[in-house]
Amino acid sequence: MKAPARLGVGFIGSGFNTRFHIQGWQGVRDGDVRGVWSPSAKNAASAAKLARDLGAGDARPYRSIAEMVADPDIHAIWLCGPNQARVENVAEICDAVTRGKGELRGIACEKPLARSVAEAKHVLKLVRQAGITHGYLENQLFSPGIVRGRELIWARGAKSAGRPYLARAAEEHSGPHNAWFWQGEKQGGGVLSDMMCHSIEVVRFLLTEPGAARSTLRPVSIDGRIASLKWSRPAYVKQLKARYGNDVDYARRPSEDFASVTVSYETPEGLTVIGEATTSWSFVGPGLRLSGELLGPEYSMNWNTLNSELTCFFSRDVQGNAGEDLVEKQNAEIGLMPVVPDEAATYGYVAEDRHFVRAFLGREAPLLTWQDGVEVMQMLMAAYMSAEQGRTLVFPPRGLDAFLPAVARGTWQP
Ligand SMILES: NC(=O)c1ccc[n+]([C@@H]2O[C@H](COP(=O)([O-])OP(=O)(O)OC[C@H]3O[C@@H](n4cnc5c(N)ncnc54)[C@H](O)[C@@H]3O)[C@@H](O)[C@H]2O)c1
Repeated sequence: MKAPARLGVGFIGSGFNTRFHIQGWQGVRDGDVRGVWSPSAKNAASAAKLARDLGAGDARPYRSIAEMVADPDIHAIWLCGPNQARVENVAEICDAVTRGKGELRGIACEKPLARSVAEAKHVLKLVRQAGITHGYLENQLFSPGIVRGRELIWARGAKSAGRPYLARAAEEHSGPHNAWFWQGEKQGGGVLSDMMCHSIEVVRFLLTEPGAARSTLRPVSIDGRIASLKWSRPAYVKQLKARYGNDVDYARRPSEDFASVTVSYETPEGLTVIGEATTSWSFVGPGLRLSGELLGPEYSMNWNTLNSELTCFFSRDVQGNAGEDLVEKQNAEIGLMPVVPDEAATYGYVAEDRHFVRAFLGREAPLLTWQDGVEVMQMLMAAYMSAEQGRTLVFPPRGLDAFLPAVARGTWQP
């Protein structure tokens, strides 16, 4: 297919994440949101309208994935359905392309690439067989604070004093926004599979020299820990049931709401460097907090999205509805509150989508592919394995491909 002047993009899924991308699309120059497919026609129409209203593209809802892929105005797919639909969504896209029912220049898939190493390798095989260029959507690697901090630390600190040796990253909030995230058997696990995929890739990114391949850092060992700190307490079990019904029963089938992972890497010079990542659904602060640090012999950097440039104060006499207008997963509406003025930019969506549009137009090489998504999944599964066995594992441990965490099997007891 000859490269079009502008990339026409179709979204699969019309939920929280798709709407974040559409919000960020206002900063994307070379592509348009032209379609949305979701099992709910009403929600697909609403997301398409949002794209039109924001000037992100002349989007319309489609009746099926195959119909959207077949439209010659759609050149690439952004895959933003729930984790449990990943394999069937990829299979439907690849089937349409393989049968000659449509041509695609690219497919970008949200994190996590899948729910296990076996599933991740399977979807990678499907896109390769269909000959579609693939991109892995890990927005935090495009967050301006992470990108700029890494550039400066490596250009100034590492150049003069030697490479960094410790990176830390965390993503924490008070719990996800939809029932399926809480259900280990659907989502693939708990907070570790939902959010550690971000933090583990952020630490690898920070520790990797700009311009060098990710493979220059070799994971040597991995130590994982999971816990249910908040949501299996009786009062919170009740709260979850009231919100989502009996399908989310944390007395019988809890998922972890806290996870920490330490990865030891070997550098090309034979040095040991360490990545520490923490994630939590049991953090009650103003709202979502993304943070990261990179430390070396004579320097350090610190990134924290709640240390915002803007705060607002509302006295106890201010009345209003609960909302997420100050920050994602907001927990309060009064007092001194941090505000993240442009969340889609701060969290990396804008730069991420701009990059993948250009990548699928053939103007730059994809910075993250599904191979990276597979590697992230290998580290996540090794972390679960380590947590279950209560010991540090040499990486890669045996049996990773077939491994399914107890949380995903519905058998985990904290
Ligand atoms: N990068 C990030 O920070 C980030 C943030 C949130 C979610 N995500 C990822 O994005 C994906 C979607 O999450 P979300 O928050 O939008 O969830 P959501 O529950 O808000 O929305 C999911 C959407 O998928 C649709 N859907 C349901 N069944 C489907 C199917 N069989 N095929 C395709 N679509 C289907 C739903 O109708 C809904 O529109 C997940 O993989 C999640 O891990 C990433």
